[in-house]
Amino acid sequence: MAGDEWLPWVALETIHLGAEAEVISGTWIGRDAVLKRRIPRGYRHPALERNLSRQRIFAEARILVRLCENGVKSPILFGIDPAEGWIMMSRVEGRSLAQVLREDSDHQVEYKLGQAIRKIHSTGISHGDVTTLNAIWSDDDLILIDYGLGRLVAEMEHFGLDLHSLHECLSAHHVDRPESMERVLKGYLDNSKSDNFDARAVVDRFEAIRGRVRYHA
Ligand SMILES: Nc1ncnc2c1ncn2[C@@H]1O[C@H](COP(=O)(O)OP(=O)(O)OP(=O)(O)O)[C@@H](O)[C@H]1O
Ligand SMILES: [Mg+2]
Repeated sequence: MAGDEWLPWVALETIHLGAEAEVISGTWIGRDAVLKRRIPRGYRHPALERNLSRQRIFAEARILVRLCENGVKSPILFGIDPAEGWIMMSRVEGRSLAQVLREDSDHQVEYKLGQAIRKIHSTGISHGDVTTLNAIWSDDDLILIDYGLGRLVAEMEHFGLDLHSLHECLSAHHVDRPESMERVLKGYLDNSKSDNFDARAVVDRFEAIRGRVRYHA
C-alpha cells in the first residue's frame, strides 16, 4: 500500500502567520515548497471575502506564470485552489531584504532591488505591494514575492505606485539607511541590459505621486 512517501504535499511548519495569510513550508513532490492560505477577515462579508481571496490567488498565479515565461527569477507555481483559498509555490531560500538591510552594510542590495523591480515592470507587470518583507535575498539576487495585489496589465500609475510604496516602507522602517531609495532608483534606471523600457518616465511619475502625497498630507 502507498505510504506517506506518496503524498505529493508534506507540511513541515508554519513560517508566517500574518493578518491576511498563513504560510506553511513543506515539500511538494519532493521539492521545497510553501503553501499560502488566505485567512478570512471577520469584518468582511463572506461572499466579498471569497471573491477577494479568489481574485488575489488568481492574480498571483497568473503573474508567477508570466514571470516564469519571461525568465524572471521568481517562485515557481505548483498549484492553486481558489475555492479553498490557497496557492502553492516553490520556496525561495534566503533572508528578507528587511533583514539584510538591518544586518549588512553592503549597498549593492538596494541597486539590485531597483533592477529586479525594473525587470518585472518591463514585462508589463506591477507588484502592488513592494516592501522590504516581500523581497528575498537569495544567491546574490533579489527575488520578489507576494504578487496577490499585482497587475498583469499595468499602467504607468501602477509602476509609479510600486516605487512609491517601497519609498514609504524604506522611510518608515529603514531610517538608518537614508540613501537607500537613491540606490534603488539607480538600479531601476540602469539600462545596460537594454530592454526598451522607459524607466525614466516611471521615476518621473513616482516623483509626481510623492509630490501629490506630500501636498495632501
Ligand atoms: N515562495 C516563498 N518562499 C519563501 N518564503 C515565502 C514564500 N512566500 C511567502 N514566504 C514567507 O511568508 C511571508 C508571507 O508571505 P506573503 O508575503 O506572500 O503573504 P502576505 O500577503 O504578506 O501575508 P500577510 O499580509 O498576512 O502578512 C513572506 O514575507 C515570507 O517570509
Ligand atoms: Mg507579504
